[in-house]
Amino acid sequence: MILDKNDESSILRIAVLASGRGSNFEALCRGDTGNGKISLLITDNENADVLRRASELGVEAHYISPGRYRTKFGEAEDLEWTRLMMDRDIELVCLAGLMRIIKGSMLEEFRGRIMNIHPSLLPSFPGLHAQKQALDHGVRITGCTVHYVDASVDTGPIILQKAVHVKDDDTVETLSGRILQKEHTAYPEAVRLYCSGVLQLRDNA
Ligand code: GAR
Repeated sequence: MILDKNDESSILRIAVLASGRGSNFEALCRGDTGNGKISLLITDNENADVLRRASELGVEAHYISPGRYRTKFGEAEDLEWTRLMMDRDIELVCLAGLMRIIKGSMLEEFRGRIMNIHPSLLPSFPGLHAQKQALDHGVRITGCTVHYVDASVDTGPIILQKAVHVKDDDTVETLSGRILQKEHTAYPEAVRLYCSGVLQLRDNA
């Protein structure tokens, strides 16, 4: 069957939440996500490059203040982001370099329907600077992980992973670049799996 993404009845509407460069957002827009369509971008950074990408790709995009905290949303702002996504009939939320913890009404409303991509093979190297952590530990294989989001940081059930070999002369930049290439195929693949209905969350695993 050929899916017609202009046929509104067959598509699953996806929101991407991002803070910066937006290469994963673009990969999701350009990649094969089955009947999932990236239809909304929200950013907490009004200068983020991802806003330019959204404009070029014709995706509805908003900067909405995240509130006064540095790593989480304020209560009112959490509601504002959540309401916009509900208003747009969003089925799935994809975090793509969003540097904030999800809790409150967003997690309540979209529990089991929020994914994140992280540049390591979780549960190794959660949190910031995952590629540097991998180099500092001397691992020979690292990679990227797409996982469901729960109330903690980088701990939710794993959907898929892709491995990357670490080279002897790798720097944070060279390693990050090769992981990023894998991220750009992993994220659309995970979204396609979600949209095809084959993923099942059982006992939170
Ligand atoms: C990506 O490498 C992503 O895995 C990472 O931020 C980068 C965003 O790049 N996310 C995290 O580290 C989350 N813990 P992008 O803006 O070009 O998609």
